[in-house]
Amino acid sequence: MSKLIIDGNKKMEGEIEVQGAKNAVLPILAATILSEGKNVIHNCPRLSDVDKTIEVLKNLGCKVVRYKDCIEVDAHDISSYTIPEELMRQMRSSIVFLGAIIAKFGKAEVSMPGGCEIGVRPIDLHLKALRQLGVEITESHGYIHCVSENPQGAKIHLDFPSVGATENTMLAACMTEGTTIIENAAREPEIEELQNFLNRMGARISGAGGDTIVIDGVRKLYGVEYSIMPDRIVSATYLACGAASKGTVVLKKAKASHMGAMINVLEGMGNKIYVEGDKVILTPAKKLTGVGTVKTMPYPGFPTDIQSPFMALATGCEGTSIFVENIFENRFRHIEELVRMGADIKIDGRVAVVIGTGKLTGAKVVAKELRGGAALVIAGLLAEGKTEIENVHYIDRGYESIENVLASCGVDIKRRE
Ligand code: UD1
Repeated sequence: MSKLIIDGNKKMEGEIEVQGAKNAVLPILAATILSEGKNVIHNCPRLSDVDKTIEVLKNLGCKVVRYKDCIEVDAHDISSYTIPEELMRQMRSSIVFLGAIIAKFGKAEVSMPGGCEIGVRPIDLHLKALRQLGVEITESHGYIHCVSENPQGAKIHLDFPSVGATENTMLAACMTEGTTIIENAAREPEIEELQNFLNRMGARISGAGGDTIVIDGVRKLYGVEYSIMPDRIVSATYLACGAASKGTVVLKKAKASHMGAMINVLEGMGNKIYVEGDKVILTPAKKLTGVGTVKTMPYPGFPTDIQSPFMALATGCEGTSIFVENIFENRFRHIEELVRMGADIKIDGRVAVVIGTGKLTGAKVVAKELRGGAALVIAGLLAEGKTEIENVHYIDRGYESIENVLASCGVDIKRRE
């Protein structure tokens, strides 16, 4: 098991090239199984979640080659329509393969994903949408069995703008005869990215980024080359690292237009953010100040994925910040670790009240999930003395060599096995 050891006394300053977006590359890799030819995906981040997605592709029978930041997927010999339990357990978001496998084979069998560290995470909205496309679904022995003998485009209204349900519906519908309309679709930039990728392959999809997506089914999709957009959550995490250690951070290859709600909060704390083309620059506040109330919401609202990293930053602010977690019910598990480091945080249901003390002290802490782990890194930068973070494998799910990125900006951070 790896640990990160951070000494918060050194200032972070420098340039960071932002990695490709995890939440964009996963559905795009799932989409590659739909094409006749080979797909070449550039700017793929080196993450354990990407490795697990490659395992799923190989298990289905695809040939996958990885070099530098590229992943080549050749789905010509794809033979299986099943995702076994051991793969599904490793990564819940493999559920996004369901729509793609149904579109490819007219049937699918995947293990029920179950809950995860941040909540129960049901898939009822995915299944309801697929049923509306004519897929017959039965659930037994922990598996979901799908058969789609007479798929038809349909008008689908999602009860909540779920990212995964929107992606699964797009994947299932892009080769389904007729027109599918998804109302109350998720508007996250990763949805638009999936639309752009599928359209490059020959699909006919419009409206992603808004709340209504229109899909005209096509018969065939073709292999293409595509480069993954920058990761907006990783971008904001590194800006928060700069703010925590009072250093100027320059993000390269970033996309500020995807980061509005997060930039707003960083500015509210007193930091200055400048955008120059694809660079986003943070110059830190002399004194960070509390930001009032921050509520997580579907995009373009404040993302749940950055709630814990920004809460860690709020412990270093003068004054009060309140975080309301509206998306996942179990996303406050970092708080007890922050409290071990001296933070003053009170929880009432989905609300956490942070009284900034500006005085964290290094301690041994444990990452319990991906973004909560990143929050502990930020706390380590704010704290006096050494912070040891256990369970780094959670952080590795979403951050490419976090210790190398931060060390290249002068942070005293080491990984120990
Ligand atoms: C995706 C992201 C995750 C992010 C989340 C919200 C990926 C791989 N993961 O997860 O990083 O935190 O969006 O921005 O892209 N829900 C249901 N029934 C369903 C589906 C969802 O009740 O069938 C609920 C969930 O439990 C949750 C909320 O809807 O409370 C949002 O979930 P959703 O948008 O689906 O998130 P994911 O796609 O799982």
